[in-house]
Amino acid sequence: MAKTRSVYACNECGAQQPRMLGRCPECGAWGSLGEEALAPSVLPAEAVAGTGNKPVALGEVEIRDLPRLASGIGELDRVLGGGAVPGSVTLLGGEPGVGKSTLGLQVAGRVQAGGRKVLYVSGEESPAQIRLRADRLDEVPGEIRLLAETRVEALLRHWEELAPDLVLIDSIQTMHCDRVESAPGSVAQVRESAALLAAAARRTGAALLVIGHVTKDGALAGPRLLEHLVDVVLGFEGDRDRAFRLLRASKNRFGSTQEVGVFRMDTAGLAEVENPSEHFLAERSEGAPGSCIVPLLEGTRPLLVEVQALVAQAAYGMPRRTCMGIEDGRVALLLAVLDRRSDVDVASRDVYVNVAGGVRVGEPSADLALCLALASSRLDLAIPPDVAVCGEVGLGGEVRGVARLDLRVREAARLGFRRVLTPPAAGDEPESLNCERVPISNVADAAQWLLAEHARTET
Ligand code: TYD
Ligand code: MG
Repeated sequence: MAKTRSVYACNECGAQQPRMLGRCPECGAWGSLGEEALAPSVLPAEAVAGTGNKPVALGEVEIRDLPRLASGIGELDRVLGGGAVPGSVTLLGGEPGVGKSTLGLQVAGRVQAGGRKVLYVSGEESPAQIRLRADRLDEVPGEIRLLAETRVEALLRHWEELAPDLVLIDSIQTMHCDRVESAPGSVAQVRESAALLAAAARRTGAALLVIGHVTKDGALAGPRLLEHLVDVVLGFEGDRDRAFRLLRASKNRFGSTQEVGVFRMDTAGLAEVENPSEHFLAERSEGAPGSCIVPLLEGTRPLLVEVQALVAQAAYGMPRRTCMGIEDGRVALLLAVLDRRSDVDVASRDVYVNVAGGVRVGEPSADLALCLALASSRLDLAIPPDVAVCGEVGLGGEVRGVARLDLRVREAARLGFRRVLTPPAAGDEPESLNCERVPISNVADAAQWLLAEHARTET
């Protein structure tokens, strides 16, 4: 008789081991391995027995425009590359409370309003709860089919029967299927449920949107394997306490991963933000020392945000350094550079840094702006309100080039900035821009520029 074999799968990364271990050798997590019965996966068997395709010459493959199921939510459709492709699987990941279910319901509403059929499967909320949420949102048609179900086999029956154009699963971590014995949310369950659902999407031609929770450090909870199984991986980011949300594609088989969608969480659901720069600059305090505007780039989209710094006399003991929206290490590095390479003395002072609006800055192109914000606060001299600043700063204090300076300068010009401090290496941008470029070669020059600017306006 054949023995039932087990494997031990890591709940963090999904890697499988032949025996029980205290620590996952792949990702290093402790105590994350759990036993699973080894069941044959659906996919290979289907793929082998399935279609009977023959090899074809690459040159003879016909290219058709992919049909798209556009949701009508511009910010989402752009990230998807024009809309979801029928038969494709999209994974929408995000931390709890960021607004995944809200976005899902809004998409469902728009698609249903466009005359298509939508099936919304929830394993987390009851239909009554979903109805309550729908009432908060504008225009969610009553015809959307809700299904409270966590068993994949059961929901597949309704899926076949209804033949919807769009199926939403909220969330994959609550789903389970009969052929796997482990608990919902475990690696094996999530993987097999997702495989069954993906196979159904391919078979029926419905677009499938699967919601998944991510852990604090941003990984999809449980198996990273899910990312291989789906066609599009979207990440929904943002502070739960702030309105601002960013939607990014980290994988897209049908489009670019360079697009980002920008949303605002309102009392009536998520609203599209077409001009994010204007949104972030709306609350800006002009003429306050320590504030500096930087044109960031999210994908191919320029985004003007305000970096704020406050340098204060340290009361006693170790100086405090508190950073929000920007990595502590980067701020520490720039403080050291500023201290050593310019006349601005920031050593042994309390330093607070904040990026307005809850944006997270990951790009080094904000370095120079942060240095200037620090210098501005320390010297108590405001940066003129018509100036934006952009450039990476090296350890020698030198200012380095950034990607797509042209896009950034153009966005600054569009929003009325008349001068942009940039790295010295000149790119070519249209002359017609009503915006002057001020080349800055190092942080000492940047501080000098600020002093000279104030000396000039005072006389
Ligand atoms: P939700 O979509 O449930 O998040 P997720 O599915 O990602 O866990 O919504 C998260 C938060 O959004 C919730 O705390 C309340 C808030 N919210 C609004 O501010 N406005 C709204 O119109 C809705 C529906 C929710
Ligand atoms: Mg939810």
